[in-house]
Amino acid sequence: MNLTEKLISSHLISGNMIAGKEIAIKIDQTLTQDSTGTMAYLQFEAMGIPRVKTERSVAYIDHNTLQTGFENADDHKYIQTVAKKHGIYFSKPGNGICHQVHLERFGKPGKTLLGSDSHTPTGGGIGMLAIGAGGLDVAVAMGGGAYFLAMPKVCRVNLTGSLQPWVTAKDVILEVLRILSVKGGVGKVMEYSGKGVKSLSVPQRATITNMGAELGATTSVFPSDEVTKTFLEAQNRGEDWIELSADADATYDEEITIDLSQIVPLVACPHSPDNIKKVKEIQGLAVDQVAIGSCTNSSYTDMMTVAALLKDKTVDPNVSLVIAPGSKQVMNMLAANGALSDIISAGARILECGCGPCIGMGQSPATNAVSLRTINRNFEGRSGTKSAQVYIVSPETAVASALSGKLTDPHTLGEAPLVSMPAHFMVNDNLIIPPAPEGETVNVVRGPNIQPFPKNTKVPKDVDGGALIKVTDNITTDHIMPSNAKLLPYRSNVPYLADYCLTPCDPKFPARAKAAGGGFIIAGQNYGQGSSREHAALAPLQLGIKAVLAKSFARIHMANLINNGILPLVFVNEWDYDSIRLGDEFSIKYAADQIKSAVNGQDVIVTHLRTGAEIPTRLNISERQRDILLAGGLLNYTKASN
Ligand code: F3S
Repeated sequence: MNLTEKLISSHLISGNMIAGKEIAIKIDQTLTQDSTGTMAYLQFEAMGIPRVKTERSVAYIDHNTLQTGFENADDHKYIQTVAKKHGIYFSKPGNGICHQVHLERFGKPGKTLLGSDSHTPTGGGIGMLAIGAGGLDVAVAMGGGAYFLAMPKVCRVNLTGSLQPWVTAKDVILEVLRILSVKGGVGKVMEYSGKGVKSLSVPQRATITNMGAELGATTSVFPSDEVTKTFLEAQNRGEDWIELSADADATYDEEITIDLSQIVPLVACPHSPDNIKKVKEIQGLAVDQVAIGSCTNSSYTDMMTVAALLKDKTVDPNVSLVIAPGSKQVMNMLAANGALSDIISAGARILECGCGPCIGMGQSPATNAVSLRTINRNFEGRSGTKSAQVYIVSPETAVASALSGKLTDPHTLGEAPLVSMPAHFMVNDNLIIPPAPEGETVNVVRGPNIQPFPKNTKVPKDVDGGALIKVTDNITTDHIMPSNAKLLPYRSNVPYLADYCLTPCDPKFPARAKAAGGGFIIAGQNYGQGSSREHAALAPLQLGIKAVLAKSFARIHMANLINNGILPLVFVNEWDYDSIRLGDEFSIKYAADQIKSAVNGQDVIVTHLRTGAEIPTRLNISERQRDILLAGGLLNYTKASN
């Protein structure tokens, strides 16, 4: 077996490891960050399970650490107390970015990690099967439920040779992105192997697995070897190490070979991480801002390299250099050994250990500015400035450019500094709060921004209701649940958000739905296209929506409706859509029986009470989805199966 197959087979709960087929795996560890975490914990609470059933679950605060109103602080308080009650470790704001801290303090080779953040695959750098998922999936995993996914193909990335001076792990993953593009990893695990692996440290490996997310990959993974062992020992966690690698005769679905010694410093140009050029090709571009940090390049060795390059120099007068070390451990070590002083002396601005500029939480560039960043994605507007031109580079290229004021190949700096891994990291977990041994007496603090999460119930005998809204084709999740800067702080407040549900289509819909006590949505083709936004199912649930009758559904939104116990019914005859008027009443008689027969391909009959017509609809569901619908959603289903 290859390493991916070994990791999956040792966690397999159901399904066969055939590429594309649904499998279920056991999850050992979970992580959340604050922007997705509030909803994940509200969902976990809704399951009524007193303690998490994972080996380790950690709640990080790293995204919304700027507190300009009470909402973020409310969210932090809620997450801290809910974590304490339910057996979850809490990483306080300032302790660092979830993926960096998790690698340092919690990640274990051979374990599965599910995180409500797309860069969770960073854990693959230490030999974990680490996957990013939605908050509900993470909530279910914390409750002991399996994680369902399509069995990925495995792409071997065979590394040969070793990196030349001034060439970094960032350049390696940019090279992979150049070859494969941002779609090249979809449905795959990128499994790194070959003689070149040994030459890469754990932080370098983690830079590469982190940005596997930019390839669209399910995850990326490195073997766990002597290098991994040394890293864990330096973190006082030698006992967490196990050796892991592919069998010598392992087979793969695909394979590419990368000769590390041939890679040169690279840059991802605006506005996509796969828009790759050699730094030398566009060298000389005037630079306004340089930001070093993010979960991709904020490790101790990254920061020590930056400090060594800045020592006794001054940042160009036209450049704003901002640096966010990835964790308190890193910051602490830089402060203790004097490197922080070298960074400050050179004129860099030090930011809190967190995501910061990566998501535009502060340090948005000036209008039309050129910003060089060591982050992982440079989509238009992500920096907070739509007209900014964001280039992705290694920390070495970033510093060379900050000093010269122009995009600069680091070779111009002369001899590369020698930075080695420390024999011992400074371990001080005083910003990690363990859960209470007994949770019953812990009071969960809910500020006004933390509102109860809508709960569905078992499917009733008959599902009755009126047509509360009739929408046309191609309604997006943005129509169903708008997400703008004004609404973003209310992710933990579904009742508030529900007042905006489908308002771009009909501003009166929320009030009408509330007055009727719920009912049906009537829709055209491709309802729910656009994104996996869970709130696009939660807000209708809050308004009492029981079923959506549509000509067709976007696949992911349909799954989200099922997960929330809302029936996604497809008209067998599209003309039935035309016969429906706003306010018409419907009844789905013996709903549970009809849902059960739907698995065998039988139509679900919706009785149109005004015309008396029996409208045939299809419910395209698996047996597992049938059980989820009957239970009234995935949370109830998970609760019942515990
Ligand atoms: Fe944070 Fe940016 Fe990583 S938002 S988790 S540093 S991708």
